[in-house]
Amino acid sequence: MPIEKACISVLDRGFIFGDGVYEVIPVYSRRPFRLVEHLHRLQHSLDGIRLENPYTNDEWSDLIEQVVAKNEGEDQSVYLHITRGVAKRDHAFPKVPPTVFMMSNPLLPPSSELLENGVAAVTASDNRWVRCDIKSISLLPNVLLRQIAVDADASETILIRDGYLTEGSASNIFIVKDQVLLAPPKSHLMLPGITYDVVLELAANNNVIYEVRDVTEDEVFSAEEILLTSSTREVMPVTRLNNKPVDTGKPGAKFIHLHQLYQQYKATHMRGGVVS
Ligand code: PDD
Repeated sequence: MPIEKACISVLDRGFIFGDGVYEVIPVYSRRPFRLVEHLHRLQHSLDGIRLENPYTNDEWSDLIEQVVAKNEGEDQSVYLHITRGVAKRDHAFPKVPPTVFMMSNPLLPPSSELLENGVAAVTASDNRWVRCDIKSISLLPNVLLRQIAVDADASETILIRDGYLTEGSASNIFIVKDQVLLAPPKSHLMLPGITYDVVLELAANNNVIYEVRDVTEDEVFSAEEILLTSSTREVMPVTRLNNKPVDTGKPGAKFIHLHQLYQQYKATHMRGGVVS
């Protein structure tokens, strides 16, 4: 149905408590990217909030196909959202069916201007809860953290907890130090990004030296390169941090290589060999 016609009860627990989880799945040439992995992470999030999955993976796949078919554009970003349903306001779990909502928006790749110049980021203290591995719809902390970047004319806030890099407000973060790509290890303190996994796989398969290990705040500040990844932004270079250039202030060699590998991967797996 048209998005303006879709409505939910004001008693929905998503509205009242932020009691739900979500996924964002990129679609290229009308085919969902890494669907199995996204549905696996959805199950992890549902398990994390003790909510039964309303559909099997085949049913999700059919629903996603229908939403994609009903929307325009070859490349889309499918959003799906499950809450604990509609019930009288009480913190305890109700025995009601969940609410499921899905929508699709056009997926626009980062512009060539952004890829050539990179984006600015700021750092902030990661003051979120300690189940950041759950893709929860309770995004107020992420919203407040992201706004710090917006207010500073930057596009992402890079989060530091107890002296270590966790992730971005809506992305995963990699740095390059001594020519080595460094990725913080997955834990309850960050979202296990699907794009993060793709980048590490590409690095492993193409002799890009990388290490998955804790990254200190100082290493972020002295990084040769900073990269951010997400389903909607793919792989992007961060070229300014807290208003200072990151190394030369231009996208670095590791970004250029990994971005090219990512585009090739997309082309071979999603578009039958045509690099867009
Ligand atoms: N966000 N970390 C956080 C906190 C995120 O919100 C996201 C993505 C990621 C990257 O995960 P992935 O590569 O699977 O997209 C990491 C989505 C795009 C969003 O909320 O719109």
